Amino acid sequence: MSLTPRTRLDLPLAIVVGAGGMGASVARRMAHGHRVLLADIDESRAAAVANDLAIEGGSVLPIACDVTDATSVEALSQTAAGLGGFRTLVHVAGLSIAADSFNKIVNVNLRGPALVAQAFLPLASPGCSAILIASLAAHSIRAAPAELAVLASPAAPELASKLAKCLAPSNTTAQMAYTYSKIGLIEMARREAAAWGRAGARIVTLSPGLIATPMGALAYEKSAGKRAMFERTPLGREGTMTEIADAVEFLTSDRASFISGTDLLVDGGLCGALGYPAS
Ligand SMILES: NC(=O)c1ccc[n+]([C@@H]2O[C@H](COP(=O)([O-])OP(=O)(O)OC[C@H]3O[C@@H](n4cnc5c(N)ncnc54)[C@H](O)[C@@H]3O)[C@@H](O)[C@H]2O)c1
Repeated sequence: MSLTPRTRLDLPLAIVVGAGGMGASVARRMAHGHRVLLADIDESRAAAVANDLAIEGGSVLPIACDVTDATSVEALSQTAAGLGGFRTLVHVAGLSIAADSFNKIVNVNLRGPALVAQAFLPLASPGCSAILIASLAAHSIRAAPAELAVLASPAAPELASKLAKCLAPSNTTAQMAYTYSKIGLIEMARREAAAWGRAGARIVTLSPGLIATPMGALAYEKSAGKRAMFERTPLGREGTMTEIADAVEFLTSDRASFISGTDLLVDGGLCGALGYPAS
């Protein structure tokens, strides 16, 4: 982190991966109580967000990182180590179904956060937390045992091709890549909680429902099903990025000190409602 007369060296370090809509909102909130290392494959996007937050008094260092590239992820963790280690890790980066590629979506949405969690676990210490953004989509189907077996090695280089082989050819779609990658993420947090717990640290997933973001707007265009889901949301509206930042802030705080290895749905009640006939 480049030192300026305003750098808040008294604050712990948060790593926020993803500087898109939701990532920027989370970074802004994390910057209230942390120095922030803001990573994105698009360094200029991270730099623009960092500039905005610096104006507000945040100490935010943008950094380029491709989460699907183990070397790039290792460099990110080394940068964090050089800054004295981390307190909070929030993995927000992800591709929507608009990306339209099974392999790309699986790699960015599951292999990426798996590589990130793997690289940061050795730096974890008591009080640290990792929050990974999953999705309501993960709650829409149950994965079969063979699929779960593949998802159990989320950092494997051949993850996407192995997953595709398990699925019927008609299911190797962007939608299924998205759903299975988020199922794999939730499973990973459940499984890895023991390892993080041995370091005195926590790992949790957060599943947003329909959130008003530019990415969310694109998914509306691609999916009539998504519009239909909106009609079923008990709170009758989309969630906001601020509401996701609120939940992330809680999960990273000491108030959440016994919450690990689980998923928090922030969906206005939609997942629960889908289990019942429309009224
Ligand atoms: N918007 C919604 O309604 C909604 C609902 C559920 C879950 N989510 C999840 O929220 C997360 C963020 O959504 P968003 O709206 O901020 O998305 P966004 O598209 O605005 O931002 C995603 C960011 O990820 C970055 N990125 C892409 N590939 C990368 C890579 N290989 N390495 C590093 N960074 C990479 C992009 O450059 C971009 O800045 C995603 O994980 C998404 O699945 C969103």
